[in-house]
Amino acid sequence: MSGFDKEWLRLREPADRAARSSSLVETVKTYIESHSPRVVMDIGCGTGSTFRTLSPLLADVDWRLLDYEAVLLDEAKRQIGPRDDVSFHCADLNTLDESLLENVAVVTASALFDLCSEDFCRRFIQRLARKKIGLYAALNYDGVMEWSIKHPLDSAVVADFNAHQRKDKGFGPALGPDATDYLSGLCEEAGFSIETASSPWELGPESEALQIEFLAGLATPIHEIGNIDPAEFKQWLDFRLSRVGIDGSRCIVGHTDFLALPNA
Ligand SMILES: C[S@@+](CC[C@H](N)C(=O)[O-])C[C@H]1O[C@@H](n2cnc3c(N)ncnc32)[C@H](O)[C@@H]1O
Repeated sequence: MSGFDKEWLRLREPADRAARSSSLVETVKTYIESHSPRVVMDIGCGTGSTFRTLSPLLADVDWRLLDYEAVLLDEAKRQIGPRDDVSFHCADLNTLDESLLENVAVVTASALFDLCSEDFCRRFIQRLARKKIGLYAALNYDGVMEWSIKHPLDSAVVADFNAHQRKDKGFGPALGPDATDYLSGLCEEAGFSIETASSPWELGPESEALQIEFLAGLATPIHEIGNIDPAEFKQWLDFRLSRVGIDGSRCIVGHTDFLALPNA
């Protein structure tokens, strides 16, 4: 169980779409359109956010959507509806069947690689390099969390959240904020051309519900790390929640988009 629920994925989808680097989307689109057959596999697809963002921009693509959470995949199926050009695969990436990568031009992912471990990434990139498959991994959390209205506990909360991001999320110790740098090193070594771009959430009053859910979601990681007194954390959380949606209050959550394309 990954613990991501469909309501959380629904809330973050518009912020993710606004945050993605349009320049990387343009490059990946040009690359896919130069391919035949045009097959894209979205790994850790959740309810299909990446498909919904990219598919309107891409003609004649066959999509493979993969996730190991049946509930999320069912929701993706429900939202996307029956289509000849989309197939759904309930599978664990740790034991990915090689045949699913057959004919794939590009693997896409969003908000996934910060959950992955060094070991998983090394093995996965080796497979992509052998098969000359590109990787477009958007929205990897980069460790930055900032608020326009400051609080003395902010930096302690961010440090503990980032420490928690490095704990095992089902692939071994997670890369967390180091995901993009690690992928860049691996892919350069494997002979890919790399592009990265910053894709932060910049959340204001228009994304009140997302901010409330995001703040509430910090409680478990902070308590699990255990450095901050629970009463102090509660005061911080109450302060943060009370500032959501007020004029001039903004929250930045940093991400990086990553693109690796095989050299011809
Ligand atoms: C943060 S969510 C992102 C979902 C979607 N890409 C999006 O942007 O809305 C991470 C997704 O990766 C999936 N996931 C995590 N570990 C996985 C694994 N070992 N195999 C397959 N999917 C996995 C989760 O079920 C979840 O849907």
